[in-house]
Amino acid sequence: MTRLGILISGRGSNFEAIADNVASGAIPAEIAVVLSNRAAAPGLDAARRRGLPAVCIPSKGLDREVYDRMVVEELRRRGVDLVCLAGFMRLLSAAFIRAFPNRILNIHPSLLPAFPGLDAQRQALEHGVRLAGCTVHFVDENLDSGPILIQTAVPVLDADTVETLSARILEQEHRIYSEALRIVIAGNYRIEGRRVVFKEAVSHQPSAIG
Ligand code: GRF
Repeated sequence: MTRLGILISGRGSNFEAIADNVASGAIPAEIAVVLSNRAAAPGLDAARRRGLPAVCIPSKGLDREVYDRMVVEELRRRGVDLVCLAGFMRLLSAAFIRAFPNRILNIHPSLLPAFPGLDAQRQALEHGVRLAGCTVHFVDENLDSGPILIQTAVPVLDADTVETLSARILEQEHRIYSEALRIVIAGNYRIEGRRVVFKEAVSHQPSAIG
């Protein structure tokens, strides 16, 4: 069974959506650890309430290489074989990425490569785009880069605020992260350069995922 390591820094709603789908059997995996670089992350409490292993490794004041080594050690100790960044607000070092080749996923609240980095929803609103959305991608050493697995678009409405647009995108984040995990766990894809090619037709409207 695939063992997930979920890395968070805050609220943890993407983690919770994944945890719901793991609990229902829709994602054939187990959550080996939820790890935060911030002790105050509400997602850590949510993990504890669910009876899942929740670990804080504070990143403050540590060199990226030193910190990442500690995290990789913890993930290895827990037998993690697929890493999910879910609102983990740090760039990963080359050594971290080498430790889990093509086994680290991230979710970003924009249609990449548009609007990488912080405040993606605000960037989209201020740019005036008519379509916003979210992306699940493999992680490489650059920010919000790496081969794209799934994207979903949502409309931007004239009355939108950052909050209403973020909420519309978040609903889709919760759906596509689980769908991406099902694809990766099933192994029904190959990576060709920047492109992720599915071996069989993959539905983007899965029935099993809530
Ligand atoms: C999400 O919008 C995710 O796309 C971004 O950070 C946010 C995390 O939210 N990377 P949550 O902690 O999963 O609720």
